[in-house]
Amino acid sequence: MASEWCIGIIGGSGLYNIEGLEDEQWIAIDTPWGEPSDEILCGRIGDVKVRFLPRHGRGHPISPTELNSRANVDALKRAGCTDILAISAVGSLREEIEPGRFAVVEQFIDRTVKRESTYFTSGLVTHVSMADPVCPRLSEMAAKAISACRGKVAVGATYIAIEGPQFSSRAESRLYRQWGADVIGMTAMPEAKLAREAELPYALIGMATDYDCWRVDENGVGEAVNVAQVIAQMEANGELARETVAKFISSLPKKRKASQIDTALDDAVITAPDEHD
Ligand code: ADE
Repeated sequence: MASEWCIGIIGGSGLYNIEGLEDEQWIAIDTPWGEPSDEILCGRIGDVKVRFLPRHGRGHPISPTELNSRANVDALKRAGCTDILAISAVGSLREEIEPGRFAVVEQFIDRTVKRESTYFTSGLVTHVSMADPVCPRLSEMAAKAISACRGKVAVGATYIAIEGPQFSSRAESRLYRQWGADVIGMTAMPEAKLAREAELPYALIGMATDYDCWRVDENGVGEAVNVAQVIAQMEANGELARETVAKFISSLPKKRKASQIDTALDDAVITAPDEHD
């Protein structure tokens, strides 16, 4: 069945507005999970409804561990979103993903430990599939939008989510490379898991800001990521990120076809029906 798009954009550090948004209005949305990071900026670009949430709040007051991803994803669902495109700063664990390049994520390794990571807690046992954690349709459109804006793109990236707030040690950084991770960040988990539980197709663009700390030069000397480096690269990427989001939205097909992820819970609930009616 075809329907209207309502795109949720979760913006990371450096992305605090949406280019070309019409009829815009910040709206506070309550959720049973507590407060989302901020109000949601609602508007439209052409026929597409857009809902934008600054992941860390305006002014960036919320640390990765303190993010209430359950409230954030639920607020976007309540605001009518059909799909989510998330943007996040990442460190690169690969030579070929140089700072400035955008990586479209395909897989996750979740090493976070302190975050509420499910909506299904008391009495309703549910196991959604995370085998393919992102929506291929959104990811493909995101990659095309980056290229159309003349951004450098890497596709099929594996994202490792660490708890932070500290950056990794060199031993950890090297280990994550051996595990097959391509980029590293602190924010996209459990966000992606919760989007799946909320039956919201989700894609993630990681904007590479640094090489973390695994890389050494010919003299064995290695640089290590620092906040100044991340911020400088985020600022350098800001314009491209805004253009990419606007291009992504304006390139969506007129009508949205149903996705399998829209019904991800259909075969995921294990508790007997009379226990949760
Ligand atoms: N975000 C941006 N760069 C990062 C890094 N190197 N590690 C974790 N999160 C990051």
